[in-house]
Amino acid sequence: MLLDIAQRRRRGLPPTDARLPLHWSAHAGYALPEGWHADAQSLFALFKPLLDRRGDAADWTIGQLGQSLDGCIATHTGDACFVNGPEGLVHLHRLRALCDAVVVGASTACLDNPQLTTRRVPGPNPTRVVLDPRLRVPADAKLFRDGQAPTLLVCHAAHRTQAEARLGADRVVALPAHPSGGAVLALPAVLAALRARGLRTLFIEGGGVTVSQFVQQGLLDRLHLIVAPVLIGAGHPGLRVKRSDAMADALRPPVRTFALGGDVLWDMDLRA
Ligand SMILES: NC(=O)c1ccc[n+]([C@@H]2O[C@H](COP(=O)([O-])OP(=O)(O)OC[C@H]3O[C@@H](n4cnc5c(N)ncnc54)[C@H](OP(=O)(O)O)[C@@H]3O)[C@@H](O)[C@H]2O)c1
Repeated sequence: MLLDIAQRRRRGLPPTDARLPLHWSAHAGYALPEGWHADAQSLFALFKPLLDRRGDAADWTIGQLGQSLDGCIATHTGDACFVNGPEGLVHLHRLRALCDAVVVGASTACLDNPQLTTRRVPGPNPTRVVLDPRLRVPADAKLFRDGQAPTLLVCHAAHRTQAEARLGADRVVALPAHPSGGAVLALPAVLAALRARGLRTLFIEGGGVTVSQFVQQGLLDRLHLIVAPVLIGAGHPGLRVKRSDAMADALRPPVRTFALGGDVLWDMDLRA
């Protein structure tokens, strides 16, 4: 049912029809009818903010990180298989299936050589996007070679010719350097380029550097932080936000929690 809703949005169909056992209203979005099992209601409640995106509100960006109790998303060697339990992995694949594109940073693409597909759930693979300003990710990475879903490489304009020779012009998004200089890509320009390609609901999957930049620049609508009962010790850090001098200045976004097997998902509303 979740996927039906996402497909209707993608195809520009009305929010619901006689086959879909859901209510829809423009002001309250989707609602489950009475009588559904508590587990189904909880799952629906978790994804409702994403499912309700339609029309002008379809441009929406969600991030996720799976982290240990001590705030690491991988060991110091980059091993992240697996921080979360199987329920967390299903959740990750479900987010991929519900969004138009999944975005990862160059370090995740290099260290994990991920596929970023939806093989644990039914539903289409999203377009895969790698933020690789300096072309660090090897040309034979699975993302570029396995043909399972479209893949876009986002790089600095200075590397456009090399990137296009490697992947073809239609798979390269080359952007000018950020005004602050250095290797940083202007993330609003990245989002605009993806949306110009019809990729409206975006899933920022990691790693910590990439998700943190989206949070710091105020570009995430929602963040799912899945905390696993494990201590990794001095690994790759997860979320890093602007430093607060006083507790009164610390960010306290509205949160909801959901049990995911032995892990706890913190759903943060970063637009509130
Ligand atoms: N547990 C989880 O949920 C999870 C999820 C994903 C990944 N991981 C793990 O996380 C580790 C990697 O994460 P990480 O935090 O070290 O790095 P990362 O976020 O995967 O990649 C960071 C790199 O991506 C590029 N990048 C990202 N945003 C950019 C921007 N705005 N402008 C320009 N370049 C940008 C930069 O590449 P350059 O350095 O080339 O400039 C940057 O150094 C891996 O071990 C992976 O297994 C864990």
